[in-house]
Amino acid sequence: MTIIRVCILITNVIICVCNAVSEKQIREAIRGGASSIGDLRAQTGCGTNCGSCVETAISLLDEHRGEDSGSALDVLNLHNLSPA
Ligand code: FES
Repeated sequence: MTIIRVCILITNVIICVCNAVSEKQIREAIRGGASSIGDLRAQTGCGTNCGSCVETAISLLDEHRGEDSGSALDVLNLHNLSPA
């Protein structure tokens, strides 16, 4: 039996559940100049309530800076949505 795994980059995953902020919104904010978690809080609202999304938001900032601390799959894993 052959098992084929297909990994799909899902960018509309909700990263901040409290404020319904998606990965796509965070990436757009970063591309628009957000360079810190404070910027992301101000521009998207992510991380302004329970804070459990902050680590993921920071990893997206790091990824944008070229300090690849994770992939989209890692983000999925953080939310226990791993496709595996
Ligand atoms: S999940 Fe983002 S503040 Fe709670």
